Amino acid sequence: MANVTVIGAQWGDEGKGKIVDWLAARADAVVRFQGGHNAGHTLVVGEKVYKLSLLPSGIVTGTLSIIGNGVVLDPWHLKAEIEKLEGQGVVINTENFAIAENCPLILSVHRELDVMREAAAGSGKIGTTGRGIGPAYEDKVGRRAIRVCDLAHLDALEAQLDRLCAHHDALRAGFGQPPVDREALLNELREIAPSVLQYAQPVWKRLNSVKKAGARILFEGAQGVLLDVDHGTYPFVTSSNTVSGTAASGSGLGPSATGFVLGIVKAYTTRVGSGPFPTELEDETGQRLGERGHEFGTVTGRKRRCGWFDAVLVRQSCAISGVTGIALTKVDVLDGLEKVKICTGYRLNGKVLDYFPAHAADQANVEPIYEEMDGWQGTTAGARSWADLPAQAIKYIQRVQELIETPVALVSTSPEREDTILVRDPFAD
Ligand code: GDP
Ligand code: IMO
Ligand code: MG
Repeated sequence: MANVTVIGAQWGDEGKGKIVDWLAARADAVVRFQGGHNAGHTLVVGEKVYKLSLLPSGIVTGTLSIIGNGVVLDPWHLKAEIEKLEGQGVVINTENFAIAENCPLILSVHRELDVMREAAAGSGKIGTTGRGIGPAYEDKVGRRAIRVCDLAHLDALEAQLDRLCAHHDALRAGFGQPPVDREALLNELREIAPSVLQYAQPVWKRLNSVKKAGARILFEGAQGVLLDVDHGTYPFVTSSNTVSGTAASGSGLGPSATGFVLGIVKAYTTRVGSGPFPTELEDETGQRLGERGHEFGTVTGRKRRCGWFDAVLVRQSCAISGVTGIALTKVDVLDGLEKVKICTGYRLNGKVLDYFPAHAADQANVEPIYEEMDGWQGTTAGARSWADLPAQAIKYIQRVQELIETPVALVSTSPEREDTILVRDPFAD
């Protein structure tokens, strides 16, 4: 039995959805274990494009899809996303979809607080997705969250809401906002409860029994290691742990279930939202990467910032997350460039660094040290075998794996599911 844990090794949007979809056909279960509908995972299958934020990407292949306890779940968004996918012909039922009963909920108060804080922060804002992710995680660790299982105990919900609202009323008063309308919130929760509860179960139990039966479990991370609340570019991060270890705690399986850790790595770098980005290109090349790579946020439509590949950051992400092998995506976006650059180190206050320091000011001030390589004139777009790649593109891929000290397991050459080169099968390990 071999499980696979997919995580983003940069600032998100590395192409996790495409790779999870490609692997899902050979998995028995796909599990989301952190984040929420701040994620935007795009799957392209023939003419069809699926955009998933909360549902595990395995749902498109009909693979058992599970939302683990580590996720924060907006029940209204869930309902809308299920309806949208059903409209695209995807079958979602209690056989192929389950939600952890101990999953905390994102409520309107969380979305409102997220937006109020960002507006008040002005130029110091994080650039969140505005979906209430941070405030929902705060309430979880503050032990006042409403969870999926609470929707089955409506008699106790009023008292729970009182506790939660007392906290939020104080915060809202600071923003000059009126208290939470408890009655309206209670009614909304009563109304939405059945559509969530039909999928709710002790998923730790289900996962442990499929694991015992020898199932292959595929964990689908959201965001990326550089957005991890501990290891990322704090405070410009998301509010969950995005590293591979979270697959265990966010699903109810022990750490040994993590299996092959597949880091998804874009052949260049992008970031959406504020925060340091040493290799960012604010010139024509950056513009070209954004255009060729269609670098617009799946969730918010915001333009993603683009830059050269940063081997220092990815090496750090791979080390922190124990990455076994990477899937290198969007190599085709570099097609036709005369020269390509890779960041191999930083200069800070006259010193050379081989890692990304923790302090925000140092992160903002490091100067990248580049290595330049010839680009390639042929095309990698749509390549499905190693032999289809131009020699110079192979050199680039090999240099990347050398610098990040982690082998390449897959290469992706277009958004389409099948445009994928298998170098080393993660499930076979
Ligand atoms: P995720 O959040 O990691 O799942 O990534 P997103 O779906 O937000 O962003 C990745 C984008 O790149 C999507 O539009 C994908 O369809 C697309 N994509 C994925 N792999 C490739 C690739 O190898 N080449 C190209 N050109 N696009 C890709
Ligand atoms: P996927 O799974 C890229 C970023 C936001 C912001 C920061 C905090 O598609 O890779 P949040 O709403 O989480 O509090 O925002 O994190 N962010 C992402 N960036 N891809 C994502 O997900 C992201 N999810 C959150 O832009 O900078
Ligand atoms: Mg995305």
